[in-house]
Amino acid sequence: MNYDNSFLISPSIPQKRLQENKPLKLAILASGSGSNFEVIAQGIKTGKLNAKIQVLIYNNPGAKVIARAEKFGIPAILLNHRDYKNRREEFDGEIIKTLAAYDVEWVVMAGWMRIVTKVLVNAFPNRIINIHPSLLPSFPGIRAVEKALAAGVKITGCTVHLVSEEVDSGPILMQAAVPVLADDTPETLHARIQVQEHKIMVGAIVALADKEESSDIPSAKKARSPHGITKDN
Ligand code: GRF
Repeated sequence: MNYDNSFLISPSIPQKRLQENKPLKLAILASGSGSNFEVIAQGIKTGKLNAKIQVLIYNNPGAKVIARAEKFGIPAILLNHRDYKNRREEFDGEIIKTLAAYDVEWVVMAGWMRIVTKVLVNAFPNRIINIHPSLLPSFPGIRAVEKALAAGVKITGCTVHLVSEEVDSGPILMQAAVPVLADDTPETLHARIQVQEHKIMVGAIVALADKEESSDIPSAKKARSPHGITKDN
């Protein structure tokens, strides 16, 4: 199938973040391969994105994303959730400590396969984004690509959204649509979804930065000093 990608993404991706702004201080949370981590790091390197990845936090020893962080010279910190069995809040508390230590302003969940608690959500209000491989609110949770195939939808896609307490909910920032082909397997469909994920992941961060510049994000200014030490300005 031939299709023009430009109409499949909404809203459209701004060309570039306003350059007079200070770089956004990001942390990436990732559990696995880290292809989304890579496009963000690459977007920064090539000047598409005026941001800095202060730290990568990963939870699976041996995750492929570690090598990507090494390649870009980004510190990678292992926080293994297995050490916090039935203590999700404590685990999130450790994440917050690490984010504070690395002076992080925005948290990007890029394939972070953990459910976050209100402890983390409240420490970074409207400052955590997540990418999900479906057109939310359809198919939240795990195995979204398989669920879309099983439902027989003809169009699926991916979503970048602000994180709230409920899994894969929270205001939608950007979506890209991906047609489902007759002979798709979960792997072939996911591969095409990921091509679009990489566009909207960078695009959504660019758009957020632009919005922050014009203070459109609710509480953005207030949350400029995140991790619970908020101040009004
Ligand atoms: C992506 O499909 C993302 O939507 C989902 O996990 C996957 C992560 O991929 N939440 P990668 O590790 O960034 O390659």
